[in-house]
Amino acid sequence: MDLVNFGYNLLSIFVFILPAMVANGTPVIIHGLPPIDMGKKWRDGRRIFGDGKTWGGFLSGIIAGLIIGGIESLIVWHNILFDSLIASIGALLGDLTASFIKRRIGLERGAPAPLLDQLDFYVGALIFLYLFAGKVFNLYAELAFAVIIYALHRLTNYTAYKLKLKSVPW
Ligand code: CTP
Ligand code: MG
Repeated sequence: MDLVNFGYNLLSIFVFILPAMVANGTPVIIHGLPPIDMGKKWRDGRRIFGDGKTWGGFLSGIIAGLIIGGIESLIVWHNILFDSLIASIGALLGDLTASFIKRRIGLERGAPAPLLDQLDFYVGALIFLYLFAGKVFNLYAELAFAVIIYALHRLTNYTAYKLKLKSVPW
């Protein structure tokens, strides 16, 4: 694959993943309403998802992702609202899946799970973009972008911790 093609793929991933990144970050600031699992426990006696996943966070994430998709649609001169909705839903379900996995292996809410915490929403968004919007990107570009996402996630979460928006720096 030539460099131009690689660059084009990176740029496409950025455009389609940006709504997912915002959808993933917004719940840190805007959350509330009951927890998605309604306080219910799984058969192992632990919470299904935990108090870190709320309906308010889910909805604020989707709305924020759609707003970014709307702004991007004006810039790229092409309607990507549907894609941004799909990417945002995928991101939030990816994050939810990670919490489900964390609870099942006995990690409490907020306990660190390296890689899973940083890449859950990205993998969720990529899967949803592929399944429901037919978006396929180059695998190497996806992996390169994962490194960017990882670094950005560490940086923004550390900043949110310093600003007292989050109780832990991951
Ligand atoms: N959040 C929310 N609803 C969501 C996702 C996130 O309310 N659907 C909010 C919660 O306040 C959460 C914060 O965003 O604490 C950060 O999300 P995350 O780091 O994914 O949650 P954790 O608290 O670390 O919980 P977990 O261990 O389940 O990942
Ligand atoms: Mg998480």
